[in-house]
Amino acid sequence: MKIIVLGSAAGGGFPQWNSNAEACRRARQGDPAAESRTQASVAVSCGGERWFLLNASPDLRQQINNTSALHPRKGLRDSPVAGVVLTGGDVDAVAGLLTLRERQALTIYATQRIHGVLDANPIFAVLARDIVARSVEALDHPFALDGLTASLFAVPGKVPLYLECGNEPPPLVVDDTTVGLEIVDGDSRMLYIPGCAVMTLPLRRRLEGADLVFFDGTLWQDEEMVTAGIGEKNGRRMGHMSLSGPDGTIDAFRTIKVGRKVIIHMNNSNPVLLSDSPQRAEAEAAGWIIARDGMEFVI
Ligand code: MLT
Ligand code: MN
Repeated sequence: MKIIVLGSAAGGGFPQWNSNAEACRRARQGDPAAESRTQASVAVSCGGERWFLLNASPDLRQQINNTSALHPRKGLRDSPVAGVVLTGGDVDAVAGLLTLRERQALTIYATQRIHGVLDANPIFAVLARDIVARSVEALDHPFALDGLTASLFAVPGKVPLYLECGNEPPPLVVDDTTVGLEIVDGDSRMLYIPGCAVMTLPLRRRLEGADLVFFDGTLWQDEEMVTAGIGEKNGRRMGHMSLSGPDGTIDAFRTIKVGRKVIIHMNNSNPVLLSDSPQRAEAEAAGWIIARDGMEFVI
């Protein structure tokens, strides 16, 4: 199984268009310790011929242009992109679908709930149904991705921001709203979990023994956006567990045995983005790989 990281930042990317915070300024100035990143997405393939995108980020056009494996190969219209698997309905997971609207045959794989969100929004009708198939996947029911076998599973999360009602925090749910993706190829197993509100026992069990895990690295500290004066919400309120602290991802994974573990979906406020930060050193010392755009894995 081949995996290419197309984008590694959370919604907004790094630098974020309207952020004048120090880290974003460093990224804009081309500081090599503050490498720019597009919004999170990964491409997966069994043999390198046909590729499946895990989420379609708003940066998808740039990501495809930056990735030769995803370029057209023959004829006047062609793409190795065979499909897109969605792990949620957030803008940073679905907006890139609109980039794929040029009448190219492909399949969108998602839960009933997420297909319902797309169906309720007429703009996604540009992905004409006579050529773009919608495949509804039940949780924990394997489906084929051209030689790979995938399944979606529930992780704790919340509805997409634009579906929240009023100012009340939406409840955390464990259903087909926010899902993780497991892909196996007979020998190897990888998990893609760009959003997760809290570690649970079933999730621990699923992670155990995986060869490669991409995991939600949105924030370093739950309150970092509030403390920095750039937002009113903490990580938990946004449906993301943080990397540090006793309930954090780094601690949780100390007792979960996995092959390689990769932090992805990093918000521009997260100091692990900076290669000269103590937080980066701490994450790497705990065995984490910090995703970069263009990074490749073979498992
Ligand atoms: C998230 O990951 O929390 C969302 O992408 C936030 C958003 O929709 O901007
Ligand atoms: Mn996101």
